[in-house]
Amino acid sequence: MNNIQFIDLQAQRAYLGSKIDDAMARVLEHGRFIMGPEIKILEGKLSEFGKMERTVSCSNGTDAISLPLMAWGIGPGDVVFVPSFTFAATAEVVALTGATPVFVDILPDTFNMDPAHLELAIADVKREGKFSPKAIIVVDLFGQIADYPTLKKIADANGLKLISDAAQGYGSSLNGNQAGKWADVVTTSFFPAKPLGCYGDGGAVLTNDAQLADIMESLRVHGKGTDKYDNVRIGLHARLDTLQASILIEKLSIFGEEIEKRNVVASRYAKELGDYVNVPFVLDGAISTWAQYTLTVQDREAKQVALKEAGIPTAIYYPKPLHQQTAYMNYPQGGNGLPVSDRLAGEVLSLPMHPYMDDETQTYIIENVKRIFG
Ligand SMILES: Cc1ncc(COP(=O)(O)O)c(C=O)c1O
Repeated sequence: MNNIQFIDLQAQRAYLGSKIDDAMARVLEHGRFIMGPEIKILEGKLSEFGKMERTVSCSNGTDAISLPLMAWGIGPGDVVFVPSFTFAATAEVVALTGATPVFVDILPDTFNMDPAHLELAIADVKREGKFSPKAIIVVDLFGQIADYPTLKKIADANGLKLISDAAQGYGSSLNGNQAGKWADVVTTSFFPAKPLGCYGDGGAVLTNDAQLADIMESLRVHGKGTDKYDNVRIGLHARLDTLQASILIEKLSIFGEEIEKRNVVASRYAKELGDYVNVPFVLDGAISTWAQYTLTVQDREAKQVALKEAGIPTAIYYPKPLHQQTAYMNYPQGGNGLPVSDRLAGEVLSLPMHPYMDDETQTYIIENVKRIFG
């Protein structure tokens, strides 16, 4: 079978018909490319979708995490707990404020932050007394919502802010609630390959804290006060482009439907592959956005090559946990190391996943996985 896409953005574009082209044409017509009317419209719709009061759109999912850290004044002498098994941005933003990221291990089944290991990491930092614990960044890895009820209890018991890095999991839920029910802020990325992506870079922060949202709006435009030539704090250059907002308004209108379609694809994978490979585990009551459909496999390289020979693209997220990366290996690790992150980095393998996968393509992928892994 020819041309199997890992993520098929053209199929999505075709499904939307001329809507994206029309939306972009409207922006070209009105010409307000920076902070045009589509920005506020999108922010309102994102707040509604994410069930939070305020949304601050911004330049990407990395700045989306920086904004609340900066607004809370987190910096040198502070600690922020982060998973090691994630994209670099999650820890990078902490280091950039001058604070110290402390790495926490993940659970072997959901790939999300291990609450017990988090407690060990917090206890370590408190015992040493060198740094002041300030916040936890939880990542909804591969689109699955983390165990927020448990993580929120730990955050509250220790007076820590809770950030949901939902770059991959924006829209995921647990018993009908999205991360905003528990987290102080929810951040997301609109990188094109994300479940809700634009056609370039983009991101957003959602919160119920109006004062925090006001400060983040200032930070996103060079720390502006009454206008951008009134600078009341050191900020960023972190706006979302109007053109990207116009694209996102259209994509958001079908996002709920797309999450359902992704779950149809995921259910079929699980049903037909469950006896052959370790398919993803989903928490009771959770709905994932399936940013990735990630297996854990032995002898991964050979399997990946065999799938490639059959024309099936796969990806490895992530080949190396952050605590093993050159830039981050000198930051502290909680507990006695991060054995689960170390092991899974050698076993994860993601299969093609997107809402527009047709039955024939999925049958072909399933048959080949069975053949290669069987
Ligand atoms: C978990 C996670 N956090 C943050 C980011 C950063 O998002 P962006 O690339 O939009 O800056 C990503 C993007 O890959 C991500 O996967």
